[in-house]
This record gives sequence, structure tokens and C-alpha cells, in this order.
Amino acid sequence: MKNKVDLNIDDSKIELNLVKGSENEIGLDISSLRTESNMITLDPGYKNTGSCKSKITFLDGEKGILRYRGYSIEELAEKANFLEVAFLLIFGELPNQTQLNKFLIDIKENSIIDEDIKRILESFPKSAHPMGILSSLTSALIAFNPEKKISLDNKQNGDQDYMYNSIVKLLAKVPILVAWVHRRRKGLPLDYGDNNLGYVENITKMMFQLPNQDYVNNKIIIDAMNKLLILHADHEQNCSTSTVRIVGSSEASLFASVAAGISALWGRLHGGANQAVLEMLEAIKKDGGDTKKFMLKAKDKSDPFRLMGFGHRVYKNFDPRAKIIKVTANKILNELGISDPILEIAKGLEKEALKDSYFVERKLYPNVDFYSGIIYKALEIPNEMFTVMFALGRLPGWVAHWREMRLNNEPIGRPRQIYTGETLRKFLEMGLR
Ligand code: CMC
Repeated sequence: MKNKVDLNIDDSKIELNLVKGSENEIGLDISSLRTESNMITLDPGYKNTGSCKSKITFLDGEKGILRYRGYSIEELAEKANFLEVAFLLIFGELPNQTQLNKFLIDIKENSIIDEDIKRILESFPKSAHPMGILSSLTSALIAFNPEKKISLDNKQNGDQDYMYNSIVKLLAKVPILVAWVHRRRKGLPLDYGDNNLGYVENITKMMFQLPNQDYVNNKIIIDAMNKLLILHADHEQNCSTSTVRIVGSSEASLFASVAAGISALWGRLHGGANQAVLEMLEAIKKDGGDTKKFMLKAKDKSDPFRLMGFGHRVYKNFDPRAKIIKVTANKILNELGISDPILEIAKGLEKEALKDSYFVERKLYPNVDFYSGIIYKALEIPNEMFTVMFALGRLPGWVAHWREMRLNNEPIGRPRQIYTGETLRKFLEMGLR
């Protein structure tokens, strides 16, 4: 294959470089286009725009492949635990036992949250959406964990100690915030966890432990949480991760960048879909369970209703995470002895959509969010907390991308635009307009 292509514009020819990835993906490097032609590329929604080179996650949407640092999502979900996967994503290799122990100890040493953060949490109205609270509290953490000042001879990019400290602090504190937000919604007193427990086990204790009861390790819940968090841990340049990279590219701190990522994840076209899916399934159940009626609504272009949990920007065959989650949902409901009619409605809807020409032609398949809410519901996590759980899982991915962006010394993110507004106009004084 050639490593350059020619672009002919009127009488001139511009040579553009081709960039090849390790999985043979090919990119057209247009960085010289503007200087050579005064043109930009236009791609709303960045549907076909690569914003960076990355070594973290490989995704092939046509073949339904997802790999973190070269390891298949199927194998990681089956064999690894979430903290191992976090280490892998962030630092590039699976940890050995000594590295993993040190990582966990460093995280635990940072698991103190300032009392003032609790006061901020308590000042939110009970009705506040947990994603808003989580984003605000993550931002608020900056005030209690101030950064080193940047000076000309103290550039933070590439400063490994500074980055490592920020990373372990974030991985220590955000799960505590998540657990506290959850407990507050449930009217439970805050639980401070137990530093003798593993990372995910401690999160489950902080979330679910009832007051005045002895702690009992629930393997079903811990395994389910590990799996869900691993499946959500990274997904290359999606809306929230690109947000984290672009915010971080201004040299904003890790906490500030992740707080922005949490906000980006909130919307129902992204992480907010898991909440929207369950609300949709509950609405279908309340309406009598007629899935056909909702299929018609989803296909009706005059109706804003979409089948939530269906379709994906990059997966055009199947979402490998959805396959694993569907099996896990069945397994967990069985293990916990729960029979949930919502699962039957979901399966019915999926069956119909998979043979419906509208969905087949547009390559719309269940995505990761279609079945995850059913598992969260089985774990007695309220609907509004679902996206918070997604955020918890996505933390290592955001961290890995922020770190990679810093280590690569990437330039500040700053897209261009095609201006379509008014040309120069004369200002008219009040009274002449
Ligand atoms: N229900 C009905 N029609 C749909 C759906 C849906 N869920 N998704 C896409 N379409 C149609 C859409 O109307 C369009 O039809 P047409 O070509 O006739 O105009 C066509 O399919 C292509 O859709 P698009 O909106 O141009 O595709 P996109 O790549 O911009 O959007 C999406 C991807 C995920 C936002 C979209 O499929 C969607 O809104 N799905 C529902 C929300 C959802 O489940 N989001 C979670 C995504 S997975 C979690 C994550 O990683 O964020």
C-alpha cells in the first residue's frame, strides 16, 4: 500500500500522508491540509475523524471485537478482576502480584475524604440527579487535593509522580463518593468501608452494607460488579473519553478532566442510556407489555421515541459487551432467585428487533446498556444510579486516556468550523433598529 495519497483541488495537487495502525486501520493525515490549501475537513459528530493515536483499546465495530491493550474483552470479563484491568488499561501491562498489591495499598492510603465534602453532599436536594452530584463532588475534590503549581521549569506533562499520585487519589476517592451518593438516596448512614477488603469488595460493602449488621461477603454480587465494571472500563474515543482528553489537553487536572467526562457520560445517548432503557422497559410493562407497539413507535420518524439500548456509533454487527451482559443478567437473576418480568420484555424486544427490516437495515443491535440495568436492578441499585455505576467502571479508561494524552504531549484540542452566520454588518444605534 502507498503511504501517501494525492488530493486534487482545481489545478493544484496536495500530497497527504497515510497513517497505519497496528491492526491495519488506515488514517489520512490531514494536518498539512490547511497550510497547503486553506481548507479544513468537516465531520459533524466526528463520525469519521481520528483525534489521536492510542495504544489503549482496539475496537472493530464490523466484527464486534473489543480488546484492552490486546486482551479480548471476553477473556478479561471471564478471568480478571476490575483492579487488574484498571492497572492494565492505565499502565499498559497486566500487573504481577507485587505490583497489584502496591497499587491497592497506594489507593487505600488515599481513601480519606474531607469532612467538608460530606457537608457539600448533604447540601444537595434529595431530588438532585446522582450524576450531577458525582460530577460536582469530583470537581470539589480539587479544592481539597490542590495541585502543584505549574511553573516554567515544572511542566506537569510527563511528570510520572504527579500523575501516579493523582491517579491513585482519584481511584480511591471517586468510589467512596459513588457509594455515599447511593446510600444517601437510600437514606442509609455513610459506610466508611474496610481497608482489609479488596477494591471491588470494599465498594460493594460501602454501597450495600446495612447498619448494625455484620459484614458478610457476597460472592455473587462481587463477581457481578467486577464483570460489569470491566465491561465498562474503556471504549476508546467515545463522547466522555474524548471530553476527558480534550479537557486534559488544556493541562487541566485529572480530577477536573474526569468531572467533565462524568457530565459527558450523563446524556441518554451515551451512558445515560442504561437508565433510559430500564425506564422504557418499565413503561412497556405498565402499558400492558405490548412490545410491537413500541417497535412501531421507534420506527415512526414523526415520533421522537427511540428504542433505548439499541444502536451504536461504531458497532454495526453486535456489541460484544452486550453478549456477555445478557448471559450475566440471566445468571445473576438465577443465582439471586429473582424472576423479573422486565427481563422477559427485554428478550422479547430484542427478538423482534433482530428480525425487523428497519433495525436490520440500519444495523441496530442491543448495546451494552440494554441488559446492564436489569443486573443493577437485581442488585437493588435505583434507576438514577445506573449511569453512576457506568462512570465508576469507566474511571480507569478516562485515567488511561488522560495519562496517555499527557505522556504523548498532545497539543491542546481545538477543532475548526465552517462559519455560516452573517458577514460583516454595520452596528445600528438603538432607535435605528
Ligand atoms: N431506535 C430507533 N432508530 C434508531 C435507533 C434507535 N435506538 N438508533 C439509531 N436509529 C436510526 C436513526 O433514526 C437513523 O435512521 P435514519 O437513517 O432513517 O435517519 C439511523 O438509525 C442511524 O442513527 P444515527 O442516530 O444517525 O446513528 P448515530 O451513530 O449518530 O447514533 C446512537 C448512535 C447510539 C446515539 C443511536 O443508535 C441511539 O440513539 N441509540 C439509543 C441510545 C443508546 O442506546 N445509547 C447507548 C449507546 S452504547 C453506550 C455508550 O457507549 O455510550
